[in-house]
Amino acid sequence: MSRTATAKDVASGAPLAEPAPDADALWRALETIAGCQEALVERLYEDFFARCPEARPLFGVYAIAEREEMVAETLRSIVALHEGEPWLEGNLEALGRSHEEYGVTSSMYPIFVESFVASVGAAAGVPLDEAAQTALRSAIAHVTERMRVAGEASARPT
Ligand code: HEM
Repeated sequence: MSRTATAKDVASGAPLAEPAPDADALWRALETIAGCQEALVERLYEDFFARCPEARPLFGVYAIAEREEMVAETLRSIVALHEGEPWLEGNLEALGRSHEEYGVTSSMYPIFVESFVASVGAAAGVPLDEAAQTALRSAIAHVTERMRVAGEASARPT
């Protein structure tokens, strides 16, 4: 868990702790999503394919279950990240490797993050407040970054 850096840490040159994540803001975002998850799945893929047309052919045309599963897994990962679940790291690495095989590239991940955050507001019918957007963006960025790094490592010739 992160903690606030003390003057002693600074004086001793210890690395500064990251600012404590805004848990309230993250829960507001997750609560909003819980109320519109079905609409979010629709909005997200529409928005993501518009921003990132090269990702569209990677998805099966009728694979609705996979699309729902992907959003559900993203949400599970955000909660696990917040709770510091030990299984998350390995899970994201495996997902990163499988996604590299699907043809997902590093540049697609930041687009997915922005698309996800924007689609929550669109699906809920009211925009998330700034702090909730920031907390959600930062959590998804962390999750996708683990996948991206694992995907790149598995793509590298040995
Ligand atoms: C740039 C972002 C992403 C792209 C382009 C992408 C792409 C894909 C594709 C092409 C599939 C196969 C779907 C099909 O067969 O129709 C898939 C499945 C899936 N994705 Fe993603 N994905 C992304 C991000 C994520 C994230 C952030 C997570 C969760 C943390 C995730 C979890 C899953 C899961 C659980 C499946 C179901 C099949 C499996 O386990 O591999 N994806 N994704």
